[in-house]
Amino acid sequence: MDKFIIEGGKSLYGSVAIQSAKNAVLPLLAASILTDEQVKIHKCPRIRDVMNMVQILNELGCKTTYDGEDLIIDSADAACHEIPSALAKELRSSVFMLGSVISRFSRARIAYPGGCDIGLRPIDLHLKGLKRLGVQIDEEGGYINCSCDRIVGAEVLLDCPSVGATENIILAAVKGKGTTIVKNAAREPEISDLQNFLNAMGAKVYGCGTPTVVVEGVSRLHGAEYTPIPDRIEAGTFLIAAAMCGGEIEVCNADAENIASLLHKLREISCKVWAKDDKIYIRSKDKPLSPNLVETQPYPGFPTDLQAQMTALSCVAEGSTLIVENLFETRFKHVPELIKMGADITVRGRSALVRGVNNLHGADVVASDLRGGAALTLAGLAAEGNTTVTDLSYIDRGYFGFEYKLRDLGAKIKRIHI
Ligand code: EPZ
Repeated sequence: MDKFIIEGGKSLYGSVAIQSAKNAVLPLLAASILTDEQVKIHKCPRIRDVMNMVQILNELGCKTTYDGEDLIIDSADAACHEIPSALAKELRSSVFMLGSVISRFSRARIAYPGGCDIGLRPIDLHLKGLKRLGVQIDEEGGYINCSCDRIVGAEVLLDCPSVGATENIILAAVKGKGTTIVKNAAREPEISDLQNFLNAMGAKVYGCGTPTVVVEGVSRLHGAEYTPIPDRIEAGTFLIAAAMCGGEIEVCNADAENIASLLHKLREISCKVWAKDDKIYIRSKDKPLSPNLVETQPYPGFPTDLQAQMTALSCVAEGSTLIVENLFETRFKHVPELIKMGADITVRGRSALVRGVNNLHGADVVASDLRGGAALTLAGLAAEGNTTVTDLSYIDRGYFGFEYKLRDLGAKIKRIHI
């Protein structure tokens, strides 16, 4: 198990390059099995979730190779329709494979998916959507068995705008018979990225980024090369780090439009934030003001994946902040660890009241999910004294070289193996 050792109190200066979006790459990998021709994903980050998804593709019979930063996938010989349970349990996005595996093999078998422990994370909307497309689904012994001779287009109304369910239904429908309409679809930028990739493969998908997505089934898809969008959550994590620690940083390969809700908040708390081309700049010279209210919503509202980081920022802000987590039931596991560092936080259900303190102090804290781990790291950077953050396996799911990028900005942070 690895841990970070952080010496807090350093301001951040310099430039940081953002990786391709984890939550865009994962559905693109699922989509790669929809063709028997070669697919190339440029700048594919070697983060744990991607490597686990690549392993799933390998288990299905795909050939995957890295050519520098580019991942090449050849699924001509893919023949297995069963997603290995150990990998399925490791990775929430394994469930996205259902739609594409059924489309390719007319059947699929998967154990209930895992992922970060941030809530119940049901998949009822995925399964209801697939059933609407004609998929027979049996659940027994923790496994989901799906079969369908031919996907038939239908109208699917999602009870809530689930990112994964929207993506799974699109993946199942692209080679189906007729047209599928997904209503109350999620609007996250990563879904638009999936649409662009699928259409580059010859699919006919329209409307991603709006609440209504239309998929006109086609008979086959061909290979394609594609560069995923930048990781808006990684970009937001570094911007929040600078707001907490003070300094001035340039975030390169970032799309300001995709995190407009965060930039608005950062301006509200007295940071100077501006964007030019694919760069976002932030200057923070004073203690941040309280954000007052941070309420997570589906896109384009404030992203739940930046909630933990904003909770850490609120700990060192002037004044009190109400954090409301509307997407997941238990996404406050970073709070007890922040309290060990001197934070003043009261949690009631899905709300946390954070009273800003003069300084956090260093402590030995433990990460229990991806974005909570990132938040604890940011708190250590801003705290007085030394902090250790243990169990970096969560952070490594979504951030490649996190400590190196922070060190290049002037942070005192190193990773040790224990
Ligand atoms: C995706 O998860 C992201 N993961 C998550 O990022 C992100 O937090 C989430 O979307 C919300 O934006 C990937 O893209 C791999 P949802 P997903 O289905 O698809 C409920 C990170 O840190 N729901 O949009 O699992 C669910 O309980 C990760 O990068 C159902 O009720 O999220 C939740 O309350 C964490 N039934 C809400 O919808 C379902 O069948 C949003 O979940 C599916 C979801």
